[in-house]
Amino acid sequence: NWTMENFIDTEINRIRKLVGPTAEVIGAVSGGVDSTVASKLMTEAIGDRFHAILVDNGVLRLNEAANVKKTLVEGLGINLMVVDASEEFLSKLKGVTDPEKKRKIIGNTFIHVFEREAEKIKPKDGKEIQFLLQGTLYPDVIESISFKGPSQTIKTHHNVGGLLENMKLKLIEPLRELFKDEVRHLGELLGIPHDLVWRHPFPGPGIAIRVLGEVTKEQVEIARKADNIYIEEIKKAGLYNQISQAFACLLPVKSVGVMGDQRTYDQVIALRAIETTDFMTADWFPFEHSFLKKVASRIVNEVDGVARVTYDITSKPPATVEWE
Ligand code: XMP
Repeated sequence: NWTMENFIDTEINRIRKLVGPTAEVIGAVSGGVDSTVASKLMTEAIGDRFHAILVDNGVLRLNEAANVKKTLVEGLGINLMVVDASEEFLSKLKGVTDPEKKRKIIGNTFIHVFEREAEKIKPKDGKEIQFLLQGTLYPDVIESISFKGPSQTIKTHHNVGGLLENMKLKLIEPLRELFKDEVRHLGELLGIPHDLVWRHPFPGPGIAIRVLGEVTKEQVEIARKADNIYIEEIKKAGLYNQISQAFACLLPVKSVGVMGDQRTYDQVIALRAIETTDFMTADWFPFEHSFLKKVASRIVNEVDGVARVTYDITSKPPATVEWE
């Protein structure tokens, strides 16, 4: 009979057979549940012959790269290399305001950086790395999730096709028969921290699509700090698990305010929180007014450059979850 415990053993054996006694595997991790569960499973199967790479693209959340490193390396024993490519991503994003262009730049730069770093990993037997790990889930297999954009661009998992072709890698997808709730269950069994297992989804282009307009280091920093305060308060209020996704957006608009006896003229943060089962339709989350009041006051007081906070009360449709 099928149980998750049996699945772990079966899958570990399948991976060992597939990879063989000497070959090496690489895979990108994001700090999300899918890539972490897939990486942990791979580590259980072949240890340090699995090489995880986290690309810091400069648009991750506050302290994200350091936090992921701590959890994956110290907590889970995963052989992880963190690559700080933030300057490279940010310089490519300079002057770009179109959301789809941002996505394309981030996707292409990611492939470029990943390939370059993978080159540096030299297997002990002198052969090339042969396999690429992907945290593909069953719903990704049966239906490609489409995102917005003029041509309804189809979600390609970190454009893995390019990597497979250019690097002549074979694909390993240990989660391809599982649904999200099963991956979470598997994650708990594999000892992955509860907070990580139940994390809200975070888009590949990250904060770049939550800083509306041009993405600069300074703008990312403001969006990050506001987002961090918002999520901290959501967790403190015990609401995190009732919400499907929540984040702060930084709008390219200035607004007048007053702090002490000083007139201010700074930017606007828009808060978003939604409830959904499939992300195709979504409702905004009905926070208590006192909660919104607290978050707004903390953000304006603690984050330099923000004069005003608004809460997004638009459902999907007609709005999308993200602002870009
Ligand atoms: P939208 O904005 O299309 O978002 O209503 C639905 C879900 O998809 C996520 N999203 C993305 N995820 N790359 C990703 O990996 C993207 O370019 C992207 N755009 C949107 C969004 O965060 C939400 O969970």
